[in-house]
Amino acid sequence: MVIEKICCLGAGYVGGPTCSVIALKCPNIKVTVCDKSLERINQWNSDKLPIYEPGLDEVVKQCRGRNLFFSTDIEASILEADLIFISVNTPTKTIGNGKGRAADLKYIEGAARMIADIATSNKIVVEKSTVPVKAAEIIMKILRANTKPGVEYQILSNPEFLAEGTAIVDLVEAERVLIGGEDTPEGQKAVQELCWVYEHWIPAKNILTTNTWSSELSKLAANAFLAQRISSINSLSAVCEATGADVSEVARAVGRDSRIGPKFLEASIGFGGSCFQKDILNLIYLSECLNLPEVAAYWQQVVSLNDYQKTRFTRKVIESLFNTVADKKIAILGFSFKKNTGDTRESPAIYVCKTLLDEGAKLHIYDPKVEHEQIFYELSHPLVTNEPENVRKNIQIHETAYSAVAGAHALVLCTEWDEFKTLDYKKIYEVMMKPAYVFDGRKILDHEALLNMGFHVQTIGKRLSRTSSIRAQGSQTMP
Ligand code: UDX
Ligand code: UDX
Ligand code: ADP
Repeated sequence: MVIEKICCLGAGYVGGPTCSVIALKCPNIKVTVCDKSLERINQWNSDKLPIYEPGLDEVVKQCRGRNLFFSTDIEASILEADLIFISVNTPTKTIGNGKGRAADLKYIEGAARMIADIATSNKIVVEKSTVPVKAAEIIMKILRANTKPGVEYQILSNPEFLAEGTAIVDLVEAERVLIGGEDTPEGQKAVQELCWVYEHWIPAKNILTTNTWSSELSKLAANAFLAQRISSINSLSAVCEATGADVSEVARAVGRDSRIGPKFLEASIGFGGSCFQKDILNLIYLSECLNLPEVAAYWQQVVSLNDYQKTRFTRKVIESLFNTVADKKIAILGFSFKKNTGDTRESPAIYVCKTLLDEGAKLHIYDPKVEHEQIFYELSHPLVTNEPENVRKNIQIHETAYSAVAGAHALVLCTEWDEFKTLDYKKIYEVMMKPAYVFDGRKILDHEALLNMGFHVQTIGKRLSRTSSIRAQGSQTMP
């Protein structure tokens, strides 16, 4: 079978960009991205896409209506497709067995049942969402228990490794594509058919094929390793603050060892995003289910350290402000979980804001890309507050950083947006309450210059003091 038509179930952060790039690189394939949410599909068909991702607008504009379609007509799309990607959401379970750790597979199951109901011809079904090991087996069981005569399914695992904010580059120049399939002639044929799709633009040597379970576990492992590096450097950031070492210098020295490498050693307020915590929690749950408590405990520590880092930073803010932030105006710069995305899932800013709100602070929040309603949504979530009406009273969202900081006691930087590096901090100092505090949770500002302007400055993994600023005086200026 040559793949002529692809259907993707789920038009989210994974399905949308991935299928847009497939459509761009495979003009001979018709790609239809489906979602059960009409609102989402309407946004994908409009000038304002539902997600902000650098370069995505251009790709969608080029392909939409040519060989890329966004539709709620899931039935028609499944019927005609040779290959179906499942890229629906897999949130952490909030109730029942495995609550707080196991992935909730109801959307995956729903998608599989939908395919089984509708399909009348052979399909390759590709699991694209991040799901715990053996999720492909669930899809397989559902499809094969409901197969109509003459219909055959091959189920593949093809995890996505894109990072938000760089999704298009990550897809176009993928370091590796991973495809796992069953060790049968039919399974291997399906693997080759999906390889053919990627070979339109990915060199064959970068396409790795494995068995299904290895493919699924590799995705969890890759995210767990990346998160572990961040927790490792964050643990050392606390040691640096206590000793006078500088975590950036340590990271540079450690990363120079080619066995370790320089990437993902940026100490921070803690990692966020929809994948890291969720995937590690899945790995922990999986290990517990497999009766491997030592393995579970090992990975649990990566999550615990991340919680510790968020708490440590927020405690520092409160303690510096004379241990009380009640009724104090505090400016929060950045709310997304990292720069160049409007995504707020598991953003460390949520924890920082929640704690400050619990202490009675008035928050003035600015983020270049996060929708205002999204901030209200995150901060009035039942896991964050049981008084959602108070949240609206105590937060104000701003259109610029300058209006957020006016009259504030402290500026708390939670996301490393580039524009925060080039703000006019002299002007900001003038409009803030004195003493004026800056808490740089991302280590991106010029701390010496800020100290020289009169700010009290705290950051991650480095002790700052006025004496060190006097020593450095004249050697550095703000950009
Ligand atoms: C180590 C560091 O590599 C070196 O930079 C430092 O200066 C001293 O400590 P060494 O202990 O001599 O060097 O050997 P190394 O190659 O790091 O191996 C240490 C142990 O880890 C060995 O038992 C080795 O078998 C084991 N190992 C190493 C693994 O089990 N798996 C690996 O992938 C690598
Ligand atoms: C991650 C993986 O990188 C990607 O391969 C996978 O497909 C999905 O999960 P994503 O969550 O989009 O991607 O972003 P990533 O760049 O990995 O950042 C995750 C979090 O870690 C962010 O909050 C970021 O600020 C933080 N981070 C990252 C650090 O604190 N320090 C670092 O050195 C790197
Ligand atoms: P991810 O970050 O994994 O892409 P998102 O939450 O951004 O997750 O997107 C998942 C999308 O999948 C949502 O827009 C949701 O409406 C959609 N979805 C869930 N179940 C189905 C289904 N059975 N058919 C089509 N779309 C679905």
